[in-house]
Amino acid sequence: MLVLAVETSCDDTGAAVILDGRKILSNVVSSQTAVHQKYGGVVPELASRKHIESVVPIVAEALKTARLSLKEIDGIAVTQGPGLVGSLLVGLSFAKSVAFASGLPFIGVNHIEAHLSAIFLEEQPPRFPFVGLVVSGGHTSLFRMDGFGKFTRLGQTRDDAAGEAFDKVAKLLGLGYPGGPIIDQLSKTGNPRAIRFPRAVLSKNSLDFSFSGVKTAVVNYLKTHPKPPEDDSEVFIKDIVSSFQEAVVEVLVKKTVQAAQQHGLKRIVLSGGVAANQRLRQRIQEESGERKLKVYLPSPAFCTDNAAMVGVVGYEYLKRGLRSPLSLNAFSSMPL
Ligand code: KG4
Ligand code: ZN
Repeated sequence: MLVLAVETSCDDTGAAVILDGRKILSNVVSSQTAVHQKYGGVVPELASRKHIESVVPIVAEALKTARLSLKEIDGIAVTQGPGLVGSLLVGLSFAKSVAFASGLPFIGVNHIEAHLSAIFLEEQPPRFPFVGLVVSGGHTSLFRMDGFGKFTRLGQTRDDAAGEAFDKVAKLLGLGYPGGPIIDQLSKTGNPRAIRFPRAVLSKNSLDFSFSGVKTAVVNYLKTHPKPPEDDSEVFIKDIVSSFQEAVVEVLVKKTVQAAQQHGLKRIVLSGGVAANQRLRQRIQEESGERKLKVYLPSPAFCTDNAAMVGVVGYEYLKRGLRSPLSLNAFSSMPL
């Protein structure tokens, strides 16, 4: 089955053609970073407008790269939510129009489920059940996954998402947008033990997260520790971001491992933009290895927003005969 997938939930326009839910024939992503960079974050109105400009050429490119025409496609999958509603509506309206005009089966996909399923694009995907951590700019949640469509949420952030904390700290330090990859890079030569930022573990068995405290701690640190003369400022910034990253990573790793142990699961899957973080990837491997847990990490390009992961989920549902109505709406929040 050949699925054409479209993703426009935030600031990346994505289109992909996936064969049998696993093999990528094309996966095109057009990033809007240049548009939003000067504002230090995504401007929803600008994101929607950019999606309108990009969606047709990006889908055309995905078909061209796959050397296919629309006539050869068997079904269409599109992100329905959660995300920025104006952005979602562009992809959704486009996909519905194509489905209506072509008569192709059509399915709306949950963005979080798509992130959690990105691992099935890898050569050696995990078997169910597993613990899935989705950690992105909008979400930080732990799930028990027993199959496609079979999820139990084990925990979630009570305030900021981890990626949001990365982006806010980077903005605070004037480092640019998106903050995650910049902090990831700078941290490599910083001292992660320079400053002890708080780790919110909440109650002993809780699998919930909280990242607003660590963000506020960085704000307070900057108030009480003015930037030193120019010479030392690079070390100063690197030590702050490296220590901040260490605090966030430590909590993410601790809770994910704890989730596996509490639920007797042997496999762990990471997903979402922050799962591209090199320190997180290193630490989860180390901690899991010691406990005989197996970790599955999607390639960085499948961690951040892309349409290929939407195609994986779309295929699973279309294969079962599920269809969405052409009256399908987009939702900014959508439970899994
Ligand atoms: O999954 P994603 O592309 O979009 C959402 O669904 O939110 O995730 C974007 C988030 C941003 O907050 C970005 O700063 C963060 O993922 N991110 C990273 C890294 N790459 C992207 N955070 C930490 N380290 C990275 N290498
Ligand atoms: Zn995402």
